[in-house]
Amino acid sequence: QAFFKPIRDTAPPSPTKRHTKISVIGVGNVGMAIAQTILTQDLTDELALVDAKPDKLHGEMLDLQHAAAFLPRTKIVASVDYSVTVGSDLCIVTAGARQNPGESRLNLLQRNVALLSNIIPPLAKYSPDTILLIVSNPVDVLTYVSWKLSGLPSNRVIGSGTNLDSSRFRFLIADHLDVNAQDVQAYIVGEHGDSSVALWSSISIGGVPVLSFLKNQQIAYEKETLEKIHKAVIESAYEVISLKGYTSWAIGYSVANLARSLLRDQRKIHPVSVLAKGFYGIDGGDVFLSLPTQLGRGGVLGVTNIHLTDEEEQRLRMSAKTILEVQSQLGL
Ligand code: NAI
Ligand code: LAC
Repeated sequence: QAFFKPIRDTAPPSPTKRHTKISVIGVGNVGMAIAQTILTQDLTDELALVDAKPDKLHGEMLDLQHAAAFLPRTKIVASVDYSVTVGSDLCIVTAGARQNPGESRLNLLQRNVALLSNIIPPLAKYSPDTILLIVSNPVDVLTYVSWKLSGLPSNRVIGSGTNLDSSRFRFLIADHLDVNAQDVQAYIVGEHGDSSVALWSSISIGGVPVLSFLKNQQIAYEKETLEKIHKAVIESAYEVISLKGYTSWAIGYSVANLARSLLRDQRKIHPVSVLAKGFYGIDGGDVFLSLPTQLGRGGVLGVTNIHLTDEEEQRLRMSAKTILEVQSQLGL
């Protein structure tokens, strides 16, 4: 006996809304922070989880399912078999080793590149139309490797990049100026790492260019103050890792923020890791690094052409060189 009696003799029209599916690979600190935020923000109809550890994977799935009464209805599935990801609109890769205290992201290269050859091809096989969003570190090089391994067009292979660094940057500027971080428009670009670049010349507070904002507010600033804030951004992850062993919440919100822009076709601009060759004088090879990029349902819709000072452009090219040097070790 059906639980509900139909109120009409014809079946209701099939739902026209497209079923969205997100897969998260790696259910560690980062993968679960991302999964939890995606559920809370109701960003998908189906969430698939994959990991190499079956018990941990099953436990995380059950633990999320048990929150059903407090969350928007979302189908949550999990398996060590990549077929569980079939038909994903977005595949988010967080699997891999994380930095030990004091270790740089680039130090993770050999450990994490090896994993990708078992992860990326099945993701592309089961979801040939997916957008790949790489989070594992070193994220810029791993995004390049994922692009090569997947065979997907470069507009559908993105690294979370400096979307997170830019949030840290906006937090520190907002804290320094006692304003809301959401009123601070500011980009960190380049490597998600020690060679990132702060675009001081394009920062605005509520639409007012920061340098004139400071002058109007008679807030004294020296170049050192600005450099100190950028240095604090670069040190953020090292500090958190030394205190709690890893970072997770901020990257969780950062990646959910990207998932929303992509799957809800927001056409928002985010600093994310994209194929940067040919932009801002970056040449010397296929390299992924963060540039202000418009994101929508098709993935990368375009890279913005913002004005960089000579110094900023020079630093960006240095960042590209750093990544390319590390990448050259792979012989890909
Ligand atoms: P974690 O150790 O908590 O989780 C990693 C997960 O990956 C584990 O559950 C492990 O079983 C799984 N895994 C390992 N090899 C696998 C394989 N071959 N297939 C499937 N699953 C596999 O580490 P955590 O803290 O979640 O960090 C994960 C990665 O994310 C690290 O590389 C870390 O550096 C990176 N990360 C990147 C950030 C960014 O801004 N791009 C920010 C924070 C972390
Ligand atoms: C971070 C490191 C872990 O920025 O990539 O949090």
